[in-house]
Amino acid sequence: MRCYLKRFVVASVSFIFMLIFIILSARNEVDTVPEEYKRWAGEITIQELHSSRNAMNFRELLNASAPMNVSYQYLAGFPSSKKKYLTVGLSSVKRKRGSYLTETLKSIFEQSTNDDLKEMVVVVHLADFDMGWNSKTAEEISRKFAHHIISGHLIIIHAPQEYYPPLAGLKRNYNDPEDRVKFRSKQNVDYAFLFSFSANLSNYYLMIEDDVRCAKSFFSAIKKVVTSREGSYWVTLEFSKLGFIGKLYHSSELSRLAQFLLLFYQEMPCDWLLVHFRVLLTQKDVIRFKPSLFQHVGLYSSFRGTANKLKDDDFEEDSFDIPDNPPATVHTDIPIFENYQPSKAYSNSEEYFWGKSPASRNYFTIVFAKPVRVSRIRILTGSEERQSDYLHHGVLEIGSNPASARNAKDCSNYVQVGKFESGQFNKKNIERLVDFDAQCVKIVVTENQTEWVIIKSISIWTKQNAVS
Ligand SMILES: *[C@@H]1O[C@H](CO)[C@@H](O)[C@H](O)[C@H]1NC(C)=O
Ligand SMILES: *[C@@H]1O[C@H](CO)[C@@H](O)[C@H](O)[C@H]1NC(C)=O
Ligand SMILES: *[C@@H]1O[C@H](CO)[C@@H](O)[C@H](O)[C@H]1NC(C)=O
Ligand SMILES: *[C@@H]1O[C@H](CO)[C@@H](O)[C@H](O)[C@H]1NC(C)=O
Repeated sequence: MRCYLKRFVVASVSFIFMLIFIILSARNEVDTVPEEYKRWAGEITIQELHSSRNAMNFRELLNASAPMNVSYQYLAGFPSSKKKYLTVGLSSVKRKRGSYLTETLKSIFEQSTNDDLKEMVVVVHLADFDMGWNSKTAEEISRKFAHHIISGHLIIIHAPQEYYPPLAGLKRNYNDPEDRVKFRSKQNVDYAFLFSFSANLSNYYLMIEDDVRCAKSFFSAIKKVVTSREGSYWVTLEFSKLGFIGKLYHSSELSRLAQFLLLFYQEMPCDWLLVHFRVLLTQKDVIRFKPSLFQHVGLYSSFRGTANKLKDDDFEEDSFDIPDNPPATVHTDIPIFENYQPSKAYSNSEEYFWGKSPASRNYFTIVFAKPVRVSRIRILTGSEERQSDYLHHGVLEIGSNPASARNAKDCSNYVQVGKFESGQFNKKNIERLVDFDAQCVKIVVTENQTEWVIIKSISIWTKQNAVS
């Protein structure tokens, strides 16, 4: 009996402790991120809450799935009932000097094939408060791109002024002049309405500006990159280094991005808000791809028509040669320096792998998620800043038969396809050398080196019709 009582007491005490623990940890989970975020958001927005419309926006931020209640005007075109792969969005207002809008649209359509266009829709937000200008511009675009409007490739919208939050008497952060603050604040709202409208049109959303030139086949280049990133976390992929050009989002994130811009519309320019958005959603580093697929062409900014000659020197108009880099995991036994992870060599982005003094028989292996027919491999090691950190002696092998079906880190049957020359490997027509579908691509170090090794990029092209 005493024993039973003791056990009962022990059990009850443990139960109570567990309950307290659960309550505390649940509180913690709710408290840490959102509370801090809410408090921070709250402090900044206290002022804005005085306007009833903004109070509504603030409430909606806490419920990111809620669509914005804006009645958009359709100036041309209509969304198709079929969800597309990509929405290309841009917003435009009357400029004091120079207009590049039709050139921009021309470039988008010229650099896309008919097959690309089937999976794509372009949304233009004519965001001027001068309805005369909006109508005139919409008419002009409709005339020039009638065929794309009819085919559902192009939609022109306008969000009426009544939905805008106050644009006078705004905060003068960064000591910006009043008209500058008004311009950038309105621009944030223009974009927010554009995002909100586009949220349900496609799987991905690409932001550009109204004065850009596109690279040839930018659509398939973006698709390749997205495919190679399958399974990895990202918020924003960048295809240009400038402003709000060439930034890719998951469409499912657009409502939240729209509400975020609305909430902080008067605090800072959109390019800064975007960085905060990415960081808040825990993507710490910029993921940018080279070559850039979009170039800024405007000579004058939309604000006051002042000169704006920013150019992206990584832009290549004919970037036909974007590698496929199919989804894969990367493994190495070379000691890794800090956070220069092996996957960075394979990611198509600016980042790279950096390892310490590789020894003979060290490996660096890419294991594909599923077998692929490899046609070309290009591997660049070393860098301009660290010229001696290249792979001095190595060979490249292609393998099949991953050791075990799940979580395989290596293959068994390897065929050597060539050697590194001065730290570079570049071979085409590999499908003629290797007559099987590859599951692994492996760099094997063949001599000890005291220098460290940078693997700057690994590019792999595949043949579409892999034998499965
Ligand atoms: C969030 O939005 C959805 C969709 O509009 C709605 O059904 C739901 O009630 C909202 N939740 C809250 C807590 O407001
Ligand atoms: C949306 O706005 C209209 C008028 O502006 C209003 O009648 C309607 O109730 C609103 N809907 C929601 C879900 O808030
Ligand atoms: C989004 O699109 C799907 C299909 O295209 C449709 O069924 C759904 O109602 C849409 N949702 C909203 C909120 O518009
Ligand atoms: C290469 O390095 C490995 C490990 O660091 C060492 O065991 C081996 O003796 C070295 N080989 C030569 C030829 O120096």
